[in-house]
Amino acid sequence: MVTTKDAGDSQRFNYFPIVLVVSIFSISFFVFYLYSENIKLFSFPEPQHQEFAQEAEPEVEDKANQDRKVVLPLEKCDIFAGKWVLDNVTHPLYKEDECEFLTEWVTCLRNGRPDSLYQKWRWQPTDCSLPRFDAKLLLNKLRGKRLMLVGDSIHYNQWQSLVCMVQSVIPPGKKSLRYISTQTTAFTLEDYNATLEFYWAPFLVESNADPPTMRDGKLDPVVMPESITKHGQNWKGVDYLIFNTYIWWTKYPTMKVLRGSFDEGATEYDEIDMYTVYEKTLRAWGKWVEENVNPNLTSVFFSSAAPKHVRSSDRNNVNGVKCVEETTPIFNRTTRLEVGTNQQLFAIAANVTQSMEVPVHFLNITSLSEYRKDAHTSVYGTAAGKMLLPEQISEPTTYADCLHWCLPGLPDTWNELVYARIVSGS
Ligand SMILES: *[C@@H]1O[C@H](CO)[C@@H](O)[C@H](O)[C@H]1NC(C)=O
Ligand SMILES: *[C@@H]1O[C@H](CO)[C@@H](O)[C@H](O)[C@H]1NC(C)=O
Ligand SMILES: *[C@@H]1O[C@H](CO)[C@@H](O)[C@H](O)[C@H]1NC(C)=O
Ligand SMILES: *[C@@H]1O[C@H](CO)[C@@H](O)[C@H](O)[C@H]1NC(C)=O
Ligand SMILES: *[C@@H]1O[C@H](CO)[C@@H](O)[C@H](O)[C@H]1NC(C)=O
Ligand SMILES: *[C@@H]1O[C@H](CO)[C@@H](O)[C@H](O)[C@H]1NC(C)=O
Repeated sequence: MVTTKDAGDSQRFNYFPIVLVVSIFSISFFVFYLYSENIKLFSFPEPQHQEFAQEAEPEVEDKANQDRKVVLPLEKCDIFAGKWVLDNVTHPLYKEDECEFLTEWVTCLRNGRPDSLYQKWRWQPTDCSLPRFDAKLLLNKLRGKRLMLVGDSIHYNQWQSLVCMVQSVIPPGKKSLRYISTQTTAFTLEDYNATLEFYWAPFLVESNADPPTMRDGKLDPVVMPESITKHGQNWKGVDYLIFNTYIWWTKYPTMKVLRGSFDEGATEYDEIDMYTVYEKTLRAWGKWVEENVNPNLTSVFFSSAAPKHVRSSDRNNVNGVKCVEETTPIFNRTTRLEVGTNQQLFAIAANVTQSMEVPVHFLNITSLSEYRKDAHTSVYGTAAGKMLLPEQISEPTTYADCLHWCLPGLPDTWNELVYARIVSGS
């Protein structure tokens, strides 16, 4: 889908040409998935529940101001097992208005979201504490280096978060955001000779969703599960590589696999069980990593599935519509959360990444994110690249985005987890 900016929209950004660029970029680049998801892909039947269970009380951090003491060394601690604590002293890590690189896609407060509690939660691992985020420390680690997030719009969400987490320590004129290619955009930190890049490859391997005009998810995906070198050549020599691929696989039980190659104009495909193709794809990716990454020089990460919250019935909320009007995380930890995450895709990714010769940090963000039903852009983001109209807001069943996340917000935590690994040197 090709969308254009309307005039009223651009006026808003007159003072920030860079924001305009980013904004247009995000619109043409990332309209993609929202639309079709909202229309048909994820409408689940809503089973009826008898009672509306009261949420348990949140835990408030009383000593939030104190430096958090690391109980276990990070390497020995499962930083993904823990709980959310309210900590309005250290979070959010930046303010929505202070980061000019955020786009309408994620600026929920500016877009009219009435509550802001969702910005104030800190992830507290059970056996240790995460190091307090220090942008300068991270940038010193990244000096002369490249960090790249490779994947889908969820990773774009996370990349925007990372840019905002570090940008405040860089003076104006010493930071810039530009397209490198149709797949890549880069935030450059001049004084550090460092770049934070995002590379669009929602399946990691070649697919029909790669070109800028094909990212809206309207066409059924077609992949080439063994074709990775075309994208992969752009990942060579990057110091920190962070991959994901999940959401685009959750559309259908089968995946269309191209017979031949896109470059040769092939259009015929076979329909193959989605799990088989997912595993084949990840194995091809793993092989690429083993053949092209020197683990002495490059750290490799793989982000696990980012959950969506499209079934309010999962949370015993009979009156709820998707994630709309959710203002607190889920605190009920008596049972394993079930919000519709595809566990089998999760397990394949965990298995493949953990069986590789090159060590891969498996960023197990799924479970901690499943609690965050409050953190989605919902009706305070964009649909088809435009802010929702009042009549769309009143039709959340169709238009609410319960897949992407407000910023500041949950993706900041994912970056804190990456940060913990980078600064602890492993
Ligand atoms: C927690 O969830 C379980 C299972 O859904 C439910 O039976 C229980 O009532 C809930 N507890 C609270 C405090 O919400
Ligand atoms: C991911 O984290 C959850 C929550 O701590 C845990 O139950 C699960 O076993 C972890 N999975 C993997 C593959 O690490
Ligand atoms: C944090 O929350 C407490 C209790 O709601 C409030 O008194 C305090 O002013 C808040 N602090 C900040 C920095 O927002
Ligand atoms: C800047 O970083 C790149 C790698 O990202 C490196 O190749 C280059 O030598 C660095 N330049 C300087 C002046 O340090
Ligand atoms: C990585 O470093 C170790 C120890 O210095 C060395 O033995 C190994 O050959 C290096 N691996 C590569 C791929 O360069
Ligand atoms: C993951 O690996 C375990 C142990 O090798 C195996 O039992 C399980 O079936 C695998 N799961 C998937 C989804 O591949």
